[in-house]
Amino acid sequence: MRSSRLPSNLEPNALTRTLGEIRRRGGKIIDLTESNPTRVGLSYPPDLLAPLADVSGLTYDPQPLGLWPARAAVAADFRRRGIAISADRVAITASTSEAYGWLFKLWCDPGDTVLVPRPSYPLFEHLARLESIVAAPYDLEYHGSWRIDFVSLSKALGPRVRAILVVSPNNPTGSFLHRDDLSALAAICQERRCALIGDEVFADYPIDPSPAATSVLGQADVLTASLGGLSKSAGLPQVKLGWIGFGGPGAEVDEAIANYEIVADTYLSVSTPAQLAAPVLIERGAVVREQIRPRVTANLATLRERARAFPSIDVLPVEGGWSAVLQIPAIVSEEALALDLLTNDGVLVHPGYFFDFAREAFVVVSLLVEPSAFVVAIDRLLTRATREVPA
Ligand SMILES: Cc1ncc(COP(=O)(O)O)c(C=O)c1O
Repeated sequence: MRSSRLPSNLEPNALTRTLGEIRRRGGKIIDLTESNPTRVGLSYPPDLLAPLADVSGLTYDPQPLGLWPARAAVAADFRRRGIAISADRVAITASTSEAYGWLFKLWCDPGDTVLVPRPSYPLFEHLARLESIVAAPYDLEYHGSWRIDFVSLSKALGPRVRAILVVSPNNPTGSFLHRDDLSALAAICQERRCALIGDEVFADYPIDPSPAATSVLGQADVLTASLGGLSKSAGLPQVKLGWIGFGGPGAEVDEAIANYEIVADTYLSVSTPAQLAAPVLIERGAVVREQIRPRVTANLATLRERARAFPSIDVLPVEGGWSAVLQIPAIVSEEALALDLLTNDGVLVHPGYFFDFAREAFVVVSLLVEPSAFVVAIDRLLTRATREVPA
């Protein structure tokens, strides 16, 4: 008994198997894929989650779009980022992943397509499949910076495309959506009558010199949804609080929100304590954000400095987010390198194919990792990746 929405093969891949064996033996590794901010030695104020115990949480007031103070706090947070939105265009979700699922239910029928960037975050394929829709990739191309390849996007633009997704800054390329690319996407969405969904979960993490962040909500003529959440903006993935800001022409937004309400009312998934705490958590979460920013910047500087001694390795520019991409000599496959590094050096990295890079050989590292472990692991990675490079 298995729905075809689920993967047919549940076998773990070689990297996961090897990691499991090392862990079973009690072996220690340095995890350069760690993207969980609660596990990287940041200092969380012990009472940060105290607002979850607010006594008003003893009363249940089911609101499909979320409790008003939470929606108003999210609208204020958009304003902090320079984006004007009224609270009645905000919906509260349990996570960004859930937001994707609900937008797909809202705008797509089974068999419809959404366009997703490549390389990008690997969850899209699963999120789409679970809604019985297709995630068709369009390419991002690297020419000193990452830009949308509009030829590949046009090829993917079939009759059943209902939405185009952008991730800005993108995970893992760290690239912000270029203003010109955003305008071109908006024009396509307007012409094809499809929605533009912007994953802006990392928008709070620009790295200098970064282009000014562009939100899909700035496009007044097209139906848009901007996604964010406490997971990244306040380093609090365990609270399970995300949001959607809707934008575009008034009548289309009103219709989208009215229909969205039906989806949200069916599940009512966001906990009342999390919603009541939202205004304080969004504000106080800045203490975590303000630790993540220098952590990411310092690790990136370390990576660049250590990589200078390895001319065959290129650390690609990072405009924002929590990860960096290294282009490495394609002497062995990405998978062989990752396995070798894990088995012999005790360092776990994500091979580029995990994010669907168009070709080999790339490695992705998390910049969140505790700095003293980060530098050790980076030195091992650089040495291992260049071991067979002819002198
Ligand atoms: C680009 C991107 N979007 C969304 C998410 C999921 O966020 P949430 O925890 O809100 O589901 C992640 C998590 O890593 C991500 O990298």
